[in-house]
Amino acid sequence: TFIHSTRDEASKLDVCEEGAIGVNSDGVIEFVEREAKDVDSIVDKYPNFKNADVVQTKPGKAQFFFPGFIDTHIHAPQYPNAGVFGSSTLLDWLNKYTFPREASLSSLSVARTIYSRCVARTLSHGTTTAAYYATIHVPATNLLADICSAAGQRAFVGRVCMDHKDINPDYYRDESADESIANTCLCIDHIKNIDPNYELVSPIITPRFAPSCTAEALHKLGKLAKETGLPCQTHISENRNEVQLVKHLFPEYDSYAEVYDAFGLLTPKMILAHAIHLSKKEMELIKNRDAKVSHCPVSNSALTSGGAKVRWLLDGGVTVGLGTDVSGGYSPSVLEAVRATTLVSRHVALSDGDECKLSVEESLYLATRGGAKVVGLENKIGGFEVGMEWDAQLIGLELVETGNDEFPEDEVVDKSVFEGPKSAGPVDLFGWESWDEKVAKWVYNGDDRNTLAVWVKGRRVWSRT
Ligand code: GUN
Ligand code: FE
Repeated sequence: TFIHSTRDEASKLDVCEEGAIGVNSDGVIEFVEREAKDVDSIVDKYPNFKNADVVQTKPGKAQFFFPGFIDTHIHAPQYPNAGVFGSSTLLDWLNKYTFPREASLSSLSVARTIYSRCVARTLSHGTTTAAYYATIHVPATNLLADICSAAGQRAFVGRVCMDHKDINPDYYRDESADESIANTCLCIDHIKNIDPNYELVSPIITPRFAPSCTAEALHKLGKLAKETGLPCQTHISENRNEVQLVKHLFPEYDSYAEVYDAFGLLTPKMILAHAIHLSKKEMELIKNRDAKVSHCPVSNSALTSGGAKVRWLLDGGVTVGLGTDVSGGYSPSVLEAVRATTLVSRHVALSDGDECKLSVEESLYLATRGGAKVVGLENKIGGFEVGMEWDAQLIGLELVETGNDEFPEDEVVDKSVFEGPKSAGPVDLFGWESWDEKVAKWVYNGDDRNTLAVWVKGRRVWSRT
């Protein structure tokens, strides 16, 4: 059974109950058969696949293949801080928790510990692609790229640029705009060495956010983006005080979005995280430049940043994906971000109208197809189509057949369940639910225990057994 969002209709999941997908040795999908009762009939049709490894969902069980999740915004060095934010908001949170933690990655052994765990954990939650912010440190950033490459996670790895002396602490910043550029280039060169065609790991140009960079750095990073054609990522309009700070630091521009636009950074390859407090004019500018938005609902709730108006962005024609924003977001799970997307949209609906509610199906679309568009890989990942790559997760819900259990008459409870739950979420009794309902149960009650195996580009990169 495989389930994915369709390319053109975000509100519909395509469910194929008895299909088969053939993946070649390059990790590329060669065929999608919608009716495949058994392996033999498939091999008759595709003799090349005679000796292929076969992975089957268990018949009669609530198991299905789903496209791997795309985390369009995550700070790998902040992984150990997940859950630690107290009652802080963005600007004090950065100074209190975030900058000290990131500064500690000047030690390569600290970086190795944190990055190894971050990559392993996100993979185990089904994140097959991640757009990572690293730190200002070149060796640690290069190590993150090495770890993603070795673990087989598709990744964009960005060395963070932050050269503004008044905004960034002395203990954690670039000495100059030129240092920002030179060190970014060192990280680009490293990734070019380990993955010349950026098949799995790609550099990404990363001005932290407008306040952390001087105009000179933004200008030079915009120029570098144009020269290299590389993707870019930054934050925009996350917090009201941050928006005020941008007004104060860049008084010559009308808005936050216009600051990025003025430096050539508002392009189709730019991923803008948060995008909560945008004016209509900014939204239209983002749409006209075809810059992309990473929606981070867990972080936006945790740091009281606000509720991003995702329906408004989508209706305005803006491309949106989901981000965990660890550790503004407390969870490395994109499934949690999917859940929070539906919930935050309901809060937005209370003030802006019922049409703002996002369904489970739409939120899963954002986590897969939407994310693929955000990172510029919509023809490669995010769905199961011939020519796309096999980035997938095998999901299993606990299916309990009742009605034929024979308990001794003096036994009140089913003792076997007290050995501890074997998977997350409620049981699927009698197989009553439709597939859409099973998927909704997964979204609202599931976790990484339901993620039985994960593949990137055809390679199995995680397995629970
Ligand atoms: N704005 C600038 N830096 C950060 C960061 O690390 N996390 C979040 N959520 N917002 C930021
Ligand atoms: Fe962030």
